[in-house]
Amino acid sequence: MAMTDISSLESKILATVAGTRDEQALEAVRVSALGKKGAVSELLKSLGAMSPEERKANGPLYNGLRDRVSEAIALRKGTLAREALDAKLAFERVDVTLPSRPEPRGTIHPISQVLDEITAIFADLGFAVAEGPDIETDEYNFTKLNIPPDHPARQMHDTFYMAPQADGSRPVLRTHTSPVQVRTMLAQKLPIRIIAPGRTYRVDSDATHSPMFHQYEGLVIDEVTHLGHLKWTLEEFCKAFFEVNEVELRARPSYFPFTEPSVEWDMRCDRSGGGIKFGTGNDWLELAGSGMVHPCVLEMCGIDSEKYQGYAFGGGLDRLAMLKYAIPDIRPFFESDLRWLRHYGFAALDIPTLDGGLSR
Ligand code: PHE
Repeated sequence: MAMTDISSLESKILATVAGTRDEQALEAVRVSALGKKGAVSELLKSLGAMSPEERKANGPLYNGLRDRVSEAIALRKGTLAREALDAKLAFERVDVTLPSRPEPRGTIHPISQVLDEITAIFADLGFAVAEGPDIETDEYNFTKLNIPPDHPARQMHDTFYMAPQADGSRPVLRTHTSPVQVRTMLAQKLPIRIIAPGRTYRVDSDATHSPMFHQYEGLVIDEVTHLGHLKWTLEEFCKAFFEVNEVELRARPSYFPFTEPSVEWDMRCDRSGGGIKFGTGNDWLELAGSGMVHPCVLEMCGIDSEKYQGYAFGGGLDRLAMLKYAIPDIRPFFESDLRWLRHYGFAALDIPTLDGGLSR
């Protein structure tokens, strides 16, 4: 092919390359020039039939043409890709000045809500939050709470035992939050004033019992605290929690191995109208177990029982949630049913505080 023909072929191809609008069109141009049957490829093939002299003259021309066409195509390819990205970015632009979504989708589970309410109330009374593990040692769940291995009280706990450890001991899923008392007394300096809400486990399942449930535990240890302080604390808690001005508590003698004396508390309520009213009426609802911490427990936890004393109390947190928010069955608490959660859940951004309102 003559020089002039080569350069006109080149400018034709380069013009088509420059005119392509997308990568598909560019690919078509590439095939028509450099593909198996492409114009440039055909030229290169024709070198084979030439005499050595002709090949020497035309070879560099044809190869130069191929190189410049390939380079132009590669350049155009980069440009088109950049343009495509720019267009995409311009199209997908987010307007950050738009208002946020009007409806938060998630809700706070009633257990979390009640747990926050309880800690807010007790924090206001000067209690710190304490925690312990769900998998507990036999020692902390029972023995150090004055429940030795052969004690009949162990049978009342319907315990989930774990597989025996190398040393023969069997960890348990804690049957109450009381082991947090032990952990706190062993670890903290006196005086002690803690509230410990958390998960607990017992082999039990019906409309009002779940094998996994929640308790709250309180513990106060100093040199002067007595049962009167306990009663006042529970009254203040009930008024704040049930959001009523007056409550009446009734004390019943009871038995827990780790308290002496032991007292169970009921709160006056009214169930005559179908629902439940707190603070008035002729009915009683069970509130908490409690008592003065047994001197043996203090001693087992390294506290001088001649000098120090105090009270402990504990009860069902799920029960409190069911009472306050009129939830009849405990099982759906743990079924993750979205319809139930939407019905009984709380607005995600309303954090319970005493001055801002607990349950609004
Ligand atoms: N741990 C007891 C229970 O699960 C409740 C309790 C706590 C009693 C603290 C006395 C003191 O029934």
